[in-house]
Amino acid sequence: MDTITLQEHLLELPLGQVAFFPVLGSTNTEGIRWAEEGVPKLSLVVADEQTTGRGRSDRIWQTPPGVALAFSLIIRPGQNMAISTSRLTGLGALAVCDVLQSVYKLPAKIKWPNDVLVRDSKLAGVLVETVWQGNEILSSVLGIGINVARNSVPSQEDLDFSATSVDAVLGSTVDRWMLLKEVLEAILTRLPQLDQDGFLEDWEANLAFRGKPVQILRDGAEPDQGQIQGLNHEGFLRLRLSNGEEKLVQSGDLKLRQVDRT
Ligand code: ATP
Ligand code: BTN
Repeated sequence: MDTITLQEHLLELPLGQVAFFPVLGSTNTEGIRWAEEGVPKLSLVVADEQTTGRGRSDRIWQTPPGVALAFSLIIRPGQNMAISTSRLTGLGALAVCDVLQSVYKLPAKIKWPNDVLVRDSKLAGVLVETVWQGNEILSSVLGIGINVARNSVPSQEDLDFSATSVDAVLGSTVDRWMLLKEVLEAILTRLPQLDQDGFLEDWEANLAFRGKPVQILRDGAEPDQGQIQGLNHEGFLRLRLSNGEEKLVQSGDLKLRQVDRT
């Protein structure tokens, strides 16, 4: 798909500038560059392949050519909208869940803070990065990667968590560009609700492993173990520890894992 065809495909959506790149390092890097240059809000960078796609803490996100979705949407804070990176991450994950559930009837869940799972395997990830102007947020770049075709899934020895693709869990072939449009529509529908309690409730309701024993793993620290209770207003995870206390876990360099799966 070239840029013109992509623009035509997304014509009904109120996007800013739209561009398609056959190969990019990372759509988020390009999106940050665009934001710094002052592109219109809701501009969209799409790549067929990423050579240095990244996740949180600069972990690698693989996007081979022709089989996945990798895109970044530039979001500017509205007048009354306090953009929090945490809520935007939830927005991206929730929008992917919305589409997988409503259009494709898949049991999608959010592995807090930034992954989308179907049947305990990851098929999408979200990375939100912020462009500052002094002390103010100029833009946020909402990057989403989705494994669409079966051969978009990295080999399991490269991974620390089970991965899958939309086609694999569906048992049929999905049109990547249709899926892109559906996810963008879901993002645009949810965006005005970002500050509302209803958004938080929907995000919470879609959390994976809710009420189940999980561990929060961090390098060089003892894991926290407890049950997921939900989220606080800022999108921090509310974890009920075994001593009954509730601990708030802020997103960062951590891994969430389910325990006692027997
Ligand atoms: P984990 O998925 O291990 O819990 P995380 O949530 O801590 O990871 P992220 O930054 O969210 O870490 O995801 C990056 C990780 O995702 C990489 O370290 C790699 O293991 C995995 N990964 C990379 N590319 C893909 C992909 N296309 N599909 C699924 N997983 C991927
Ligand atoms: C994760 O699970 O760690 C998040 C992965 C986010 C990947 C997307 S693909 C589009 C955008 N460009 C990047 O380099 N990363 C995000």
